[in-house]
Amino acid sequence: NHSRPLHGLHVLVTAGPTQEPLDPVRFLTNHSTGKMGYGFAHEAAALGATVTLISGPVSLPEPAEPNITTIHVTTARQMFEAVQQAYETADIIVMTAAVGDFRVSEVAGEKIKKAGRSSIQIELVANPDILAWVGAHKRTDGSQVLCGFAMETQNLIENAAKKLADKHCDMLVANNLRDAGAGFGTDTNVVTVLTPACGDTSTDQAPQQPNVEKWRKMGKTDLARQLL
Ligand code: C5P
Repeated sequence: NHSRPLHGLHVLVTAGPTQEPLDPVRFLTNHSTGKMGYGFAHEAAALGATVTLISGPVSLPEPAEPNITTIHVTTARQMFEAVQQAYETADIIVMTAAVGDFRVSEVAGEKIKKAGRSSIQIELVANPDILAWVGAHKRTDGSQVLCGFAMETQNLIENAAKKLADKHCDMLVANNLRDAGAGFGTDTNVVTVLTPACGDTSTDQAPQQPNVEKWRKMGKTDLARQLL
């Protein structure tokens, strides 16, 4: 079908930040607004796909399209569980979420009190890397396409190439937080798109240099469509 080229495909998208609680009133998070991921969900739905959108806490309206199912999560571990439930039937998996790398090791049951203390120590422990997990568990026949994102402030291409290989992605979309019109909350993005040289992301063999394409500045919705 010409206007619905993704008809019959299941697209899984993660979007937004995660929130990691410290106590009943506080949390750790980041500046992600979910615009890029929600853009993917809307565009994939418009192109005919069945979409599962797994979203951290954002203030965007819940997609109204009948072919988008939105699952709301708060923490990285909840996002991981939701992805594990959904990934097997997904044909295209796009992980735009800015997942918290760390969570507080012991969440306080009551509000942490200042009580005259001039400093406190909070221990953080690593969260699961959801994208790496999917990369390690996706089908090996090439019928599942995995796209990761990387936001960097330095050494964009080197870091992105490493993520592409380490996390067995079929596409890695890199953006530099320092580029004008890129990053958190903006309606536009400036990305560099990396794909594996050999096309085989299922093995741990030393990666060849990836293909690297710098794209022009685009609206996030436009960008999602071009990437899809
Ligand atoms: O390594 P880094 O966090 O920069 O990788 C970014 C990519 O990995 C994004 O696609 C993000 O959604 C994904 N990611 C994830 N789970 C994590 C950390 C990152 O899925 N715990």
